Amino acid sequence: MRRMVALAGVAALSLTLAACGGGDSGGGEPADTGEGTTTEKPWEGDASQVSVTTWWEAGSEKLGLEALVEVFNEQNPDTEFINAALAGGGGSQAKQKLAADLAANNPPDTFQAHAGAELTDYIDAAQITDIAGLYDELKLRDAFPASLIDRLTVDGAIYSIPSNVHRANVVWANPTVLEEAGIDPAAVPADMDAWLADMEKIKAAGKTPLTLGMAWTQSQLLETVLIADLGADGYNGLFDGSTAWDSDGVKKALGHFEKLLTFTDPSLYSEDWEPAMQLVVDGKAAYNVMGDWAIASFDSQNKVAGQDYIYFPVPGTDGIFDFLADSFTLPVGAPHPGGTKAWLQTVSSKEGQIAFNKVKGSIPARSDLTDAEKGEFSDYQQNAMESFGSDTIVSSIAHGAALPVKMSNAINDAVAKFVEGGSSLDEFQQELVKATDGIGK
Ligand code: BGC
Repeated sequence: MRRMVALAGVAALSLTLAACGGGDSGGGEPADTGEGTTTEKPWEGDASQVSVTTWWEAGSEKLGLEALVEVFNEQNPDTEFINAALAGGGGSQAKQKLAADLAANNPPDTFQAHAGAELTDYIDAAQITDIAGLYDELKLRDAFPASLIDRLTVDGAIYSIPSNVHRANVVWANPTVLEEAGIDPAAVPADMDAWLADMEKIKAAGKTPLTLGMAWTQSQLLETVLIADLGADGYNGLFDGSTAWDSDGVKKALGHFEKLLTFTDPSLYSEDWEPAMQLVVDGKAAYNVMGDWAIASFDSQNKVAGQDYIYFPVPGTDGIFDFLADSFTLPVGAPHPGGTKAWLQTVSSKEGQIAFNKVKGSIPARSDLTDAEKGEFSDYQQNAMESFGSDTIVSSIAHGAALPVKMSNAINDAVAKFVEGGSSLDEFQQELVKATDGIGK
């Protein structure tokens, strides 16, 4: 029975749609350093060390980084790894510090950046360097799916090397809590209303139905509700102006979001994702919506899928992969560009990607793993690999894929204000309209 629960979760995550084949894009132009000078290979130079800014600073994310650093040290014994990780899930603090350092011309040797719109912020500010030539040197053009390279490319230049792909629209649940409330853990709710009905039962049984942490986790929950209620096309339309933020569809989603909040515990609203998830791990709460880095947290506590926890797509988002990817850059003016090259080489290597992603819970960004190599990953991850190749891919707002940082920060502020009771539903919607002003214009 318990095994079937795990399988129900796995089956629910494997869906249908557009394939992401291996591919090639970007130009082979000489790299532009962004400072008006053009050098052939800006990644050549001092390789004595590499300072790496990430937000993989605690818990299971730190373990993932450590696994990558182990490979790095083996591959680059002469380059010292300097850990410049900053606390705060989702980059909630790292991105601010990074922006200040970049503005002050004090860049690290490399930093974690999300593929997609967030990367465009750094490109537009001429803060990161075109490394298309490094793709050629390291023979990477066919290593990653074309759909991913596209999100790293502007005008033929490629600006970062992806380390991993995560899925954001996953519900993590405690099956014992569900059973105690009379809910069959194998019966995945079909949509938001069905899920809310289950939450009523959990509340009646005396447990917290849904845990929710700080602002970025709130935005992440909201984006999954938007996907559920608008569908993939309607959700994508939010980023090109074809779906209006003041539409009835968005209003419906905000209504569901408001209802979901009634099942959460406000004392967790200042917590990062891991403490909020821990209540699900410990059987004190039923559900948490989080990206699939969460599986690493369950794994690192020796929890067994199907027995101690289950997972399924956020109700109403079946067949949709809410995508985000981490990648690493060569900042303009990096003090140790040779060190950066060494880091990028490890990040892009099969060995680095396999070691890192196995621990991190993500799937390798490389699409050229053999079946045997794929077999080294957990059931969840193998399933996510399949889904990434077949589901409809949409971009995460909370994790930089869909919107520039300024807009996602403004959305975070509006969401946090609403969650804390500082605005009505109508005011909230108007603030989202304001936060996204400029889209489609
Ligand atoms: C990153 C993930 C990380 C998560 C939680 C996301 O923005 O892409 O790598 O695990 O935040 O910190």
